[in-house]
Amino acid sequence: MLVVITETSEEGSRAAARLVSRAITNKPDLRLGLAAGRTPEGLYRSLVDLHRSAQLDCSAVRFFSLDELLGLPSDSPHRYTRFFHHDLLDQLGVSPAHVRLLTEERGHSESACAAYEQFIQEQGGIDLQLLGIGRNGHLGFNEPGSSLASRTRIVLLSPETREVLAEELNAAQVPQWAVTMGLGTIREARILLLMAFGDTKADAVSRAVEGPLTAEVPASSIHLHPQVVVVLDREAAGRLKHREYYAEQAAHLPRLLPAWLR
Ligand code: GLP
Repeated sequence: MLVVITETSEEGSRAAARLVSRAITNKPDLRLGLAAGRTPEGLYRSLVDLHRSAQLDCSAVRFFSLDELLGLPSDSPHRYTRFFHHDLLDQLGVSPAHVRLLTEERGHSESACAAYEQFIQEQGGIDLQLLGIGRNGHLGFNEPGSSLASRTRIVLLSPETREVLAEELNAAQVPQWAVTMGLGTIREARILLLMAFGDTKADAVSRAVEGPLTAEVPASSIHLHPQVVVVLDREAAGRLKHREYYAEQAAHLPRLLPAWLR
């Protein structure tokens, strides 16, 4: 695992955008798994800027998504699908034929989850999966206790996650259910790029990055993956024990990064 620590979240977002854009340059038909939430907003803004300045061509990239809240009104700005289209895909001018997201409309049945997995397989698998992390250590909506082998499925949100969602949604709107790629599904992506910013994530980050591997911290399942890059700001990295070593590694990034991200 490679841990990159930047001073601010803005720098972290730009660093992550450079990695994603290199991956697209190296593999123009990259299969890219998107994450929602606040964390990747800056990364998506940077990708849009690169696209506008003609430094990034996403016309052959295929897009997938990690998770979606279920039960929100169709015009809710909190729907991840809407966020992806509004903040990224529409701005990159992506063809609808290149997008397959987990959606409210498709998300309510087991067969839809199985079809999503099958579609990913048929497309050759996800090359690069973007990830955030929940304050409780969840990955996607794989809540504490999720099987490390779990697949795409419908999940009941934990009380902690519903509390966090209530900070943005009014209490009556907070969903109980979500659809998420499983931890086993996420692990099949060729490269994982996990981002976390801010001190509310410091505890979850230290438990995910420095272990131990446990179903209680679903994000610790990244230890089962051989190609993981973690981008943190100083606050999110605040509880890591081996910060000096990570800083030393960062000086050798071109040598240590997975080939697609160089
Ligand atoms: C959310 C989503 C995740 C996201 C994480 C962090 O609840 N399930 O996909 O990565 O929690 O969200 P944020 O980036 O807004 O802190």
